[in-house]
Amino acid sequence: MRKSFADLLSQSLKGKVVLVRVDFNAPLKDGRVADDTRIKASLGTIQALTQKGARVVLISHLSRPGGRVDESKRLSPIRDNLQALLGHVVQKVDDCIGPNVESAIQNLNDSDVLLLENIRFYKEEEANDADFSKRLASYGDYFVQDAFGAVHRQHASTYGIAQYLPAFSGLLLDKELDYLTQVLNSPTRPLTAIIGGAKISSKFSVLENLLQTVDVMVLGGAMVYTLLAAQGISVGQSLVEPDLIPKAHSFLERVNTLGKTLYLPEDHVAVTSFDDPRTAKVVEVFNDDQIGVDAGPASVARIQGLIESSKTVFWNGPLGVFETPEYSNGTFSVARSLADAHHATTIVGGGDSIAAVNQAGVADQMDHISTGGGASLEFLEGKVLPGISVLS
Ligand code: 3PG
Repeated sequence: MRKSFADLLSQSLKGKVVLVRVDFNAPLKDGRVADDTRIKASLGTIQALTQKGARVVLISHLSRPGGRVDESKRLSPIRDNLQALLGHVVQKVDDCIGPNVESAIQNLNDSDVLLLENIRFYKEEEANDADFSKRLASYGDYFVQDAFGAVHRQHASTYGIAQYLPAFSGLLLDKELDYLTQVLNSPTRPLTAIIGGAKISSKFSVLENLLQTVDVMVLGGAMVYTLLAAQGISVGQSLVEPDLIPKAHSFLERVNTLGKTLYLPEDHVAVTSFDDPRTAKVVEVFNDDQIGVDAGPASVARIQGLIESSKTVFWNGPLGVFETPEYSNGTFSVARSLADAHHATTIVGGGDSIAAVNQAGVADQMDHISTGGGASLEFLEGKVLPGISVLS
């Protein structure tokens, strides 16, 4: 059994050092945090710990510096952002182990917050080095896993460390698991999954696993063209992954065997030149020179209807090339329909879908926005995630 955050809060934490693995892997621009969604998502955990008097030590990675110091990937901008959000001083050290860290931790008072440097500056992190994990663990009394976005990584700070300390999930991790487990195991039905994106190769395992639990599966984005091609439907010059046609066949057969409803767009926005939106036309049948870039209006209306009749909707992946305004209607319509779906539990995952709900200004109307990209997909594939299993 995983020990939850509530289990940790039931203990006296005054004077205790709690090491919290967070995922502050946030995009930076001009030396500042460009999107602090992930930082905000862990505030609840940090505040609950400081309110209990714990001395909080935060560990995070940023990007992929490859086991060496990269000045552009220091966590100082993250510290500034976190400090502003918390309204509370956040100390920072430029190392993760060693004398500077040891004295900073010894000097902490109750309710202080200390952020260590980018843990991926150490090659031992990704190697899940046992000595490094033990050394990190020696700095704390408890370990809290709140880095949902990194729980699919078996690294020293996401996995190894938890073997040497009493380990608990954080509030964010508990929330992520509540919502995503609901999708897989106990959704309020009907459950509709809307899965989009460019490449079906990156989503097949998720589609196969979700097929077992969903009532309705809606697919969108360029990955649809491989499925249409597998059915012998002409898709013009649209993106097709030919190697995956046999897999597409067995997927379509499985949909039938399981008696699930699969909805693929029935019309499309198609262009003859990808970079020239003026060539865009709505088509039901592609000409040989056309490329699909978005779901068409009839499909969008049908998808809106499916959202309206669902009680749970999970969305991952855009329905078109939404970065181009002329190709964005499908994606933004889904975002807005989910915002209007007050009768349904709405769960959004994946960087592009999150960007779309943010750009549509409806992020706060979703029940849950997952902070994990790869992690949420691997969870929905049904994989065991090391950063979670180690807590049991
Ligand atoms: C993410 O951005 O998905 C997480 O922070 C994990 O990052 P990684 O893919 O570099 O391990």
